[in-house]
Amino acid sequence: MALTDTYTLSNGTKIPVVGFGTWQTPDGEIAYQAVLTALKDGYRHIDTAEGYGNEASVGRAIHDSGIKRDELFVTTKLDNSAHGYAETKQALGESLSKLGLQYVDLFLIHWPNPQAFRDNWEEKNAQTWKAMEEAYEEGLVKAIGVSNFRPKHLDALLKTAKITPMVNQIFLNPSDLQPSVVDYNDAHDILSEAYSPFGTGKIFQIDGLKEIAAKYHKSVPQLVLRWHLQHGFLPLPKSVHENYIQANTDIFDFEIAKEDMKTIDGFRGAFGLAEDPDTVPF
Ligand SMILES: NC(=O)c1ccc[n+]([C@@H]2O[C@H](COP(=O)([O-])OP(=O)(O)OC[C@H]3O[C@@H](n4cnc5c(N)ncnc54)[C@H](OP(=O)(O)O)[C@@H]3O)[C@@H](O)[C@H]2O)c1
Repeated sequence: MALTDTYTLSNGTKIPVVGFGTWQTPDGEIAYQAVLTALKDGYRHIDTAEGYGNEASVGRAIHDSGIKRDELFVTTKLDNSAHGYAETKQALGESLSKLGLQYVDLFLIHWPNPQAFRDNWEEKNAQTWKAMEEAYEEGLVKAIGVSNFRPKHLDALLKTAKITPMVNQIFLNPSDLQPSVVDYNDAHDILSEAYSPFGTGKIFQIDGLKEIAAKYHKSVPQLVLRWHLQHGFLPLPKSVHENYIQANTDIFDFEIAKEDMKTIDGFRGAFGLAEDPDTVPF
C-alpha cells in the first residue's frame, strides 16, 4: 500500500486511502504551505470545508503544486448555515469558486442537524440532498456523502434519497470506534472516513500506545494511522509541521499484529467519545 493507493466508492470513484486534514489550519500562508508540503510529500487527497475558512488557500496550493487535477482528490463540506435546496447550490458554487476548481471529488453535508435547523433537520437534509444529487448528475461533484451522521440520520435521509451517500466522515480513533455507525456504513456500502484520527492531538495521552509503537519502531501517530488502515477506515491526519506531515506518510512498511490491534481497540473512552450530533451547541 502507498499514499496513492485507493479505496473504491460505491459509484466506482477511486479515493486515496489517506487524506490530508485542514481543520484549524489558518487561511493564508499556513494553510497554503501545509497543503503544498503535503502534496510535495505525496498526499493526493485533501480534506477541507467551507467552515474551515481556508478553501482559497487550499485551492491556491493545489494550483501551484502543478499536479494534474485528475490525480488529486479534493473534498469540501456544506456549511451548517447553508442547509436547503437553493442554499446548497449556492454554497457549492461559492466553494468551487474559492477553491478555483471546476469540480470537487467529494462534497459532504458537514453536520446532520445544526442548531439552526434542529426543529426541521430531516426536511432540510432531504432538500439539501436533492441539490447534491443534482450537482452530482451535473458533474460538479464526483461523489456525495455526509459527515457526523448516525444511523437515524441516514435512515431519515434514505427515505427520499435517490443516491445513497458514498461516504460518512466521522470521529474515529482508538478512543471511539463508533461500532454502530461503522456497521451501518458497511451494510450500506458507505466508506467510513476517520476524522480526528489522532483525537486532535489527544492520542498522546494514551501511554499504552507508546509501548506498542516502539515494538514496530514507529511513532504513535504512525502506529495509529496504520491501525486505521487495517480497520479499513480512511484517516485524515492534520498537521502544519513539515516533519509531521512527512512522518505521517511512513506507514506502509509494517503490519500491526492482531493482538496489538485488539489492545488498541481496547482504549475506548481514553480521552472521550464522539460528540452527540443532536445536542452540540452549533
Ligand atoms: N467532518 C468533521 O466534522 C470534522 C471534524 C474534525 C476534523 N475533521 C477533519 O479531520 C482532520 C483531522 O482531524 P483533527 O484536525 O481533529 O486532528 P488530528 O489529525 O486528529 O490531530 C492533529 C493534531 O496532531 C498533531 N500531529 C499530527 N501529526 C503529528 C506527528 N507526526 N507528531 C506529533 N503530532 C502530530 C497536529 O500538530 P500540528 O497541527 O501542530 O502540526 C495536531 O495538533 C481535520 O483537519 C479535518 O480535515 C472533520
